[in-house]
Amino acid sequence: MKHVLEILEERRSEARLGGGQARIDAQHKRGKLTARERIELMLDHGSFEEFDMFVQHRCTDFGMEKGAKIPGDGVVTGWGTVNGRTVYVFAKDFTVFGGSLSETHAAKITKVQDMALRNRAPIIGLFDAGGARIQEGVAALGGYGEVFQRNVLSSGVIPQISLIMGPCAGGDVYSPAMTDFIFMVKDTSYMFVTGPDVVKTVTNETVTAEELGGASVHATKSSIADRAYENDVEALLQMRRLIDFLPASNRDDVPEWPTFDASDRLDMSLDTLVPDNPNKPYDMKELIAKIVDEGDFFEIQEAHAKNIVTGFARIDGRSVGIVANQPMVLAGVLDSDASRKAARFVRFCDAFGIPLVTFVDVPGFLPGTAQEYGGLIKHGAKLLFAYAEATVPKVTVITRKAFGGAYDVMSSKHLRGDANYAWPTAQIAVMGAKGAVEIIFRQDIGDADKIAARTKEYEERFLSPFVAAERGYIDEVIMPHSTRRRLARALAALRHKELENPWKKHDNIPL
Ligand code: HXC
Repeated sequence: MKHVLEILEERRSEARLGGGQARIDAQHKRGKLTARERIELMLDHGSFEEFDMFVQHRCTDFGMEKGAKIPGDGVVTGWGTVNGRTVYVFAKDFTVFGGSLSETHAAKITKVQDMALRNRAPIIGLFDAGGARIQEGVAALGGYGEVFQRNVLSSGVIPQISLIMGPCAGGDVYSPAMTDFIFMVKDTSYMFVTGPDVVKTVTNETVTAEELGGASVHATKSSIADRAYENDVEALLQMRRLIDFLPASNRDDVPEWPTFDASDRLDMSLDTLVPDNPNKPYDMKELIAKIVDEGDFFEIQEAHAKNIVTGFARIDGRSVGIVANQPMVLAGVLDSDASRKAARFVRFCDAFGIPLVTFVDVPGFLPGTAQEYGGLIKHGAKLLFAYAEATVPKVTVITRKAFGGAYDVMSSKHLRGDANYAWPTAQIAVMGAKGAVEIIFRQDIGDADKIAARTKEYEERFLSPFVAAERGYIDEVIMPHSTRRRLARALAALRHKELENPWKKHDNIPL
């Protein structure tokens, strides 16, 4: 008996070494942890249950039949817990054939994908891999196809999260692209369909891995990544924080955590947050920090389209998705990037039953050829569509400007907003006073006194929340200092909201 126990221990030790000590050392030298070290850090201590540790490739081409058969075949899979809640995990092992995907490697991943979907729990992929295993040809491509199909079937059912922790190419970027969130590690992770060498051959373009697909590109320019972290440890610990905000599936309630922050806490400083001068910015993130539980805000796409802020927080211990125009950047205007960013976030929250809290201070959509040629109409429509189809509780606070189409778009009453509040500083109109007067009183433009009088008249009539409140488009004009209390009460009242859209196969959002 003792002998077989020893054999098991030996085989386990061998498998745990992956591609061997030299490759593990090389991984560490690059500032990266190994697949198993990463899993250990991300999951609750000792909670990881590994599957398929002894799986090996079956390739017999290009000398693979004579070469090493490494147990595990380049991916570590299984499940464990994050603060006691089950998550499924696969982590690519770069020390084994560069983490590349073989037929058997794919089968390991699809096994945990199937388990996560069947058991309705989130799945997290840790990527550090060079795509399809070249020696396996179509068997590897077929393996990716199986992974992709499961990504799509799980979309909107269980949260799927990708963390990019090394050079990733081919299928190891396409699969993440179909998950809900992608996070990267700065300076050690890259994402590209083909690497710099292939780029040089095909287009004769000389480009570094960082320039082609580093975190500096994807977290800002391309918006492929939702956020970038300094190192492996920070990234893994932040995944734990994110999981704490998410329900296990689209049928599960949002998680509820104990909080020491009273839901009726007032914040008098909010009464002076909005400056008297309507053109002066203020930081919307200050408002968010003061309103959510313990100021804890997990921002998504922090470095991209900063004119809109999106992220997760809690109010009274329960998760909410926050969308807020940011007057500090481009006066909080809605452009194509901001619209796409917020639309995707709104749809994630709606798919997973996370209530939406929207803070509005928006001067409208950004005019100009650059935006129009770039498809602003379609991108802006994405956000409009996303808010209009959302059936989760929707609570909105207009802090200052809500002008033009952007008023309608930003979770207005007309798009089935449940509780639409405005601060007394709100200005709800088709446009600002100057633009409005120059159009409707064009004949008076030469007469400064007349224009001043008309502007004042317009400001008094429209640049307040009261015209909208008189019509019931605003449910209540609230004191800024009581915003947290009002939101907490509204969200509590909406906990059992039931609203269904008409049956359809799926909608046709303007992609
Ligand atoms: C087999 C691979 C491999 C692959 C890397 N390796 N990628 N083996 N198939 N796809 C092996 C290397 O041979 C090497 O083995 C070890 O992993 C480490 O790789 P290095 O190149 O030494 O590392 P590095 O310099 O850091 O470069 C990493 C890399 C590069 C950028 C990922 O290896 C690379 O460009 N790989 C190929 C990427 C690619 O084009 N993949 C196919 C995509 S097509 P040794 O033994 O020498 O250490 C695809 C189709 C999916 O995925 C469908 C999409 C829709």
